[in-house]
Amino acid sequence: MKIGNIEIDSRTAALAPMAGVADRAFREICVSYGSSYVVSEMVSSKGLTMCDRKSKKLLALSEKERPAAAQIFGNDPEIMAQSARACLDYNPEVIDINMGCPAPKIAGNGGGSALLKTPDLAEEIMKSVKSAVDIPVTVKIRLGWDKDSINCIDMAQRAEKAGMSAVTLHGRTRQQMYAPPVDLSMIAEVKKNISIPLIGNGDITDGISAARMLEETGCDYLMVGRGALGRPWVFSQINAYLQNGIILPEPPVSERMLVMIKHIKLICEYKGERVGIREARKHAAWYIKGIKGAAAYRQQVGALESIEQLEEMAFRIVRENA
Ligand SMILES: Cc1cc2nc3c(=O)[nH]c(=O)nc-3n(C[C@H](O)[C@H](O)[C@H](O)COP(=O)(O)O)c2cc1C
Repeated sequence: MKIGNIEIDSRTAALAPMAGVADRAFREICVSYGSSYVVSEMVSSKGLTMCDRKSKKLLALSEKERPAAAQIFGNDPEIMAQSARACLDYNPEVIDINMGCPAPKIAGNGGGSALLKTPDLAEEIMKSVKSAVDIPVTVKIRLGWDKDSINCIDMAQRAEKAGMSAVTLHGRTRQQMYAPPVDLSMIAEVKKNISIPLIGNGDITDGISAARMLEETGCDYLMVGRGALGRPWVFSQINAYLQNGIILPEPPVSERMLVMIKHIKLICEYKGERVGIREARKHAAWYIKGIKGAAAYRQQVGALESIEQLEEMAFRIVRENA
């Protein structure tokens, strides 16, 4: 499977873009477990063109996370084009356009999933971004705005016409946010109607759900979001199943805690311990989810202030689960 000239093994999966979660540290950890492609957190096109420091920080892509896409959002074709050019300073392999974000802050301003309601403008944005850069451009969409306005086939065809190198489809409408099961049959319909690669997304949490997405939709490649939270090893599980039919078990508690510490130390390395440890609390909560006695640690996780406290807690959890 190819995104433009970038070759990717289709029996593997990518880490989905997740604002506030899939930062450089998490992306690097996921790549170390076999994620074969990553996408940056979404970055505001307006922020980028106004040289906003926060937007620029979100775009720092390291050499340990390649190939990587920079994702931009916005609703103005010219500003989107300018921001795509600005992204090139960070050497992404791909520019991805966000047309799926349901958050009122984004969609309320006409960006993200709101573009599904204005397909002509969406197409203009895709063409404008495409002509602004000489690297592959892709788009990430949902089924449609709501159940009465499903238009993913039209949107995907427009993407193909506008020169997009691939479409990622999250199999839910904007109205559905993240809750009901994804509609694999609509993803299959889109696949039948375009000839550029289609990346299936939604509810992939292990090798079996990954294989099901590939088989039932015929999509070319997979993207995994929430299934990787607190479980970056999900990529090795997916790859082992798709490549060799092997079901790898969840790692033991001791290994899970070691990965958690490694991940959170990386966050602190990139963001400083004071900011990093606060951002890391949610990750720690995901890593301990489902572990015996985890409920008793939830409050402690919410109050973590240092790596030292994190390590103490992790070793206690390991001892109690030995
Ligand atoms: C916390 C969070 C942040 C997200 N941020 C983005 C984003 O920045 N850009 C984007 O295109 N999608 C974003 N998404 C959507 C995911 O990329 C993905 O499409 C969605 O979670 C469905 O896949 P999943 O069922 O594997 O989680 C986000 C999802 C979550 C849960």
